[in-house]
Amino acid sequence: MGVIIVAAGSGSRLGRGTPKALVPVVGASILERALRPVFGMRAPAQVVVVAPADQLAEARMLCESVAGVASDHLTVVAGGSTRQQSVAAGLAALDESVRTVLVHDAARAFTPSIQFELVAAAAEETGAGIIPALAVSDTIKQADATGAVVRTLDRSELVAVQTPQGFPRDKLVAAYSAATEEYTDDAALFAAAGHPVSIIAGDVLAFKITTPWDLRRAEALARESGG
Ligand code: C5P
Repeated sequence: MGVIIVAAGSGSRLGRGTPKALVPVVGASILERALRPVFGMRAPAQVVVVAPADQLAEARMLCESVAGVASDHLTVVAGGSTRQQSVAAGLAALDESVRTVLVHDAARAFTPSIQFELVAAAAEETGAGIIPALAVSDTIKQADATGAVVRTLDRSELVAVQTPQGFPRDKLVAAYSAATEEYTDDAALFAAAGHPVSIIAGDVLAFKITTPWDLRRAEALARESGG
């Protein structure tokens, strides 16, 4: 199995002036925290970290410190200017032997190992794209550019999608090669290529650190779990 961790985003919504993955959360960066559960999985995986091009050396050092003796399973490559380009760079760095690939946002730094294991198991078993998701608690409305509400969506049919997302490697690589537009997640790109995608239960801990408020939540969690 291969796990691609995309960590090359600028983090502009976090407002820290550093790439988001390198922002510290109580003594360990978002990237280090995201890697711990990946190296905590029972089965070893090739781990490809896609890091900011101008901070590659620093990112590599941090990743190696988390990987420890598993460093020979670690590859660090430079990302692109969109998430999709960063994932493509990660896919290009996978070992030939990898059959199932998980794509994960470093920004979901508290995602537990079990979520990686469950997504991987379901992807291997079904050959479909597998995505973890949670029911939405807010009512979701569609509005136009003037702010006028166009319609209210049926909340019972909606889910909020997380990562890691799991795929058969060959089909995901082909879908990436065929993609002609930008998608907001890998499952949308995979589905656009005609492949099935199924949902499994997500985990509240897999929230994405995007805003300063998310960072406060992350800091509280890190303190609670002893740093
Ligand atoms: O910006 P957003 O929070 O949606 O990014 C999701 C993930 O994709 C983050 O972990 C971010 O580092 C990564 N990303 C990337 N390369 C980009 C943009 C985002 O690796 N150019």
